[in-house]
Amino acid sequence: MAFPSHFTWGAATASYQIEGAWDEDGRLPSIWDVFSAEPEKTYQGHTGKVACDHYHRYREDVSLMKEIGLPAYRFSTAWPRIIPGGRGAVNQKGLDFYSRLVDELLAADIEPWVTLYHWDLPHSLQLEGGWCNPAIVGAFESYTEAVVKALGDRVSKWMTFNEPQCFIGLSLSLGVHAPGYKLPQGDVIKAAHHSMVAHGRAVDILRSKGGSSYSIGYVPTTQSMIPPSESAEDIELARHAFFDHTPARPVLWTISLFSDPVFMGSYPDSLLPVIEQDLPRGWQNDMPVIGRELDFVGINLYSSKRLERDEAGVPRVKKDKVGVPQTALKWNVEDETLRWGCRFLWERYKKPVIVTENGLANADWVHVDGKVHDASRIDFTTRYLRGLEKAIDDGADIAGYFHWSLMDNFEWAEGYKERFGLIHVDFETQKRTIKDSGYWYREVIRSNGANIH
Ligand code: FCB
Repeated sequence: MAFPSHFTWGAATASYQIEGAWDEDGRLPSIWDVFSAEPEKTYQGHTGKVACDHYHRYREDVSLMKEIGLPAYRFSTAWPRIIPGGRGAVNQKGLDFYSRLVDELLAADIEPWVTLYHWDLPHSLQLEGGWCNPAIVGAFESYTEAVVKALGDRVSKWMTFNEPQCFIGLSLSLGVHAPGYKLPQGDVIKAAHHSMVAHGRAVDILRSKGGSSYSIGYVPTTQSMIPPSESAEDIELARHAFFDHTPARPVLWTISLFSDPVFMGSYPDSLLPVIEQDLPRGWQNDMPVIGRELDFVGINLYSSKRLERDEAGVPRVKKDKVGVPQTALKWNVEDETLRWGCRFLWERYKKPVIVTENGLANADWVHVDGKVHDASRIDFTTRYLRGLEKAIDDGADIAGYFHWSLMDNFEWAEGYKERFGLIHVDFETQKRTIKDSGYWYREVIRSNGANIH
């Protein structure tokens, strides 16, 4: 089956990864400015201080998007630009930047898709405990109000949070992302709960402004689970491995921890006994807010695990074949990744699924002919889109695909080591070069996916 005619094709970025201008026009430090300034937190001490300098070059970047023929662009607004102190005064100059960006996009016929929070928490809020402190909910409400007031007349596609698994799990439990904490489960689960309350309150604010004319989603991440075969029994096995908690699985990496409350209004049965003692007192009262009606399930999906049964029929994760194809970050290339993850999400939550991120890290450089020949990215994306098409064949409502990323950028703890973009960025000169994959993606968009076969 083909991609539906209303399918949204786009590409994605995030504020801290591309903007730079870290101390301009009233912006104050985020937790990522502070964390990346500490020794050995990021690859070779890289920071997002300059990044792609998108803050100054957004006009050029929008014109490159136009050249690629992008119908939609997903980006995030930076809280430390808009309410630099985390709470309190709104910084008009910060809002003006996004207002200019939105106008530029609309003039180029590109629909803005805005994520309110893609990890750059104002540092001052971290000093008050960040997501561990329930007072963050009120601060997030004020920030959301400021953004919606400024952009809500021109933006109708919204996402509250990007990958709670990372800004709670990697950041507060594993300590590899800002602010780099290794807190006990009790604190981390409370932080997770607070983030979901903040999500629900933001949805209320968005709805009160835009009602049903807004399309609002939430963006978790996970690894896909691929069934050993397509028998009904094996598919159930993979579904179980995808959503349910088992003792072998870290609590924070069970997707349903973050997605069942938001899309179904309840914590999953498989997890509640493991986390109930850690939830804030009176948590049950928050569930209606957390579970506010949404319009789509956003999902960032890059990799997967293939399941098999051992000789006794007991399921387990299959070991990688020797020489398995991998991206530069050593994530497996697995054609069926988008198929199963997206299908399972659709079947459980019954909301259109949008792939809000997918792509690969690749060793790209400008070739002697001045072009960037990234055949691997074209192959990877072809495979993943074919997988996505199969989810559509399986009956799932899949409404869009955003490639990660529009351009090479600051890849968090990995710094500028690996490149994810459809556009190559020379970080010394800031010269942009559309890669072969960018021109190929233009054809994907023009043909509504027909050219992947
Ligand atoms: C996701 C993040 C995004 C980018 C990609 C590679 O986890 O949302 O910012 O780093 O991975």
